[in-house]
Amino acid sequence: MRAPSKKYEKKKSPRTTPPVVLVRLNPLVALETQPDGSIAAHVEGYSEPLGTFSAAAAERALELQTGLPLPRSEGDAVEREVERLMRQLARRGLLEYRLARTGDANDLVTIEPQTPDYWPRTPKLDDAATVVLSRFAYLRRRGTEMILESPRAGALLRIHDARIAALLTILATPQKISRIRRLDGYPGPALLALLLDCQILIEVDAAQRDTLRKAEGDDGLVLWDFHDLLFHARSTEGRQANPLGGLYPHTGLIAPLPAIRPAWPGKRIKLPESDRIASPLEQLLHDRHSTRDFDNHKPITLAELSTFLNNVARVRAKWSGQLEFADDGPDIEYTSRPYPAAGSAYELELYLAVANCDGLTPGFYHYDADAHALAAIDVRPQHFEAMLQSAGFAMDAPSPPQILITIAARFGRISWKYSAIAYALILKDVGVLIQTLYLVATDLGLGGCAIGTANIDLFAKMTGLDIHVEGPVGQFGLGRGMEPPPAG
Ligand SMILES: Cc1cc2nc3c(=O)[nH]c(=O)nc-3n(C[C@H](O)[C@H](O)[C@H](O)COP(=O)(O)O)c2cc1C
Repeated sequence: MRAPSKKYEKKKSPRTTPPVVLVRLNPLVALETQPDGSIAAHVEGYSEPLGTFSAAAAERALELQTGLPLPRSEGDAVEREVERLMRQLARRGLLEYRLARTGDANDLVTIEPQTPDYWPRTPKLDDAATVVLSRFAYLRRRGTEMILESPRAGALLRIHDARIAALLTILATPQKISRIRRLDGYPGPALLALLLDCQILIEVDAAQRDTLRKAEGDDGLVLWDFHDLLFHARSTEGRQANPLGGLYPHTGLIAPLPAIRPAWPGKRIKLPESDRIASPLEQLLHDRHSTRDFDNHKPITLAELSTFLNNVARVRAKWSGQLEFADDGPDIEYTSRPYPAAGSAYELELYLAVANCDGLTPGFYHYDADAHALAAIDVRPQHFEAMLQSAGFAMDAPSPPQILITIAARFGRISWKYSAIAYALILKDVGVLIQTLYLVATDLGLGGCAIGTANIDLFAKMTGLDIHVEGPVGQFGLGRGMEPPPAG
């Protein structure tokens, strides 16, 4: 065999070395090391202690400003220490990740974690595998950057190189990895591996080309429309890192709208005032208000909770019927309950985080609306506490509610029938149910408060249910309200 001549020997230039993943501090974060080895992260005036580290690890951690390679499993003691520091930072959302060629200051892609558990993984690619873009992935402009994201992904990607956008276009059709490797502007295996890990790319059988929707996941996922899953993941907590809630983001830019709509011009007909005695319903509507402060010396009792659940959500009747417009369609089961529901689907389930109820052991329960029973669900104490604490925080209350009701939707119950409007119908059903919870609580002399946010990731961890199968779409704090202070 002839040795290759010098002329043909490939010398690797920085432009041809494949890009690697580097771990970098979020630009808003600075690390401070104390003489005793303790390291803290400073973020916008806050300081987060991260533990104590050796001088060598603290020295290496300085490189987190520009980027350190992902730790290797065979790394030395210092590398393992730096990994511990990185994991501490990752859990607090203080890291981002660069995909860049070694020695190149420009990122091809910057990865922004969206969930506290996100850690970039670059599994080895199989040349024979076929991959395609997820139908939930999308590119959009954010500020002056191009973002690639998906409601299924634990991270979003800022794309800095137009050739990657071009590659994504090609990936709208299933492609073999071996073919992608030969494409012009191929960005190296790390990006493909990251995208697969994030479920922005999915692996399919070459034979599944025509059934990509089915190939992407289980039946629960097949039933979701793109905009519905995006709306669900982006309007709840747990699967995104965007600021959320009453943050008044447009103060200073746009004046607040008046509470009462400016009157239409033209003829007005003044309506007569009613002078009849208020009916019980009128009185109930009049008395209903939100209660955020609960009397923990006189908690709600099990008997009151039972009456409450019976009146708001218990199954009143069951029947089944054939699919409309199809003689050979499947039989569909229906129920009737105290509140109205789109298509009589009754997709909403009640889960109770019971903190303080006389006669009921604290814990997490599902309300079986058919059997009128509570089924205990084993959950980790820290998850249970986190759920109650965040409800207390959302209500700006001195303590969590005595019972936190999570309204969860069995999404497929609605989306099996309704295209494009499924998630909107679910939220409308939640509104109807919330008013029912308020009115029944008021009627029983109890107090309650709707809560606008819920953490879908936390609920998934507590129940083991995938976020696209069943998950929170509303919450309601319930209990016995504090007596108002005596007048005068
Ligand atoms: C959909 C919905 C979400 C709400 N979210 C919250 C919340 O997160 N925190 C809170 O303290 N109150 C929340 N509320 C309660 C409202 O603040 C309250 O209904 C409103 O201020 C009117 O007061 P009232 O209920 O006492 O009449 C919510 C109410 C609704 C209907």
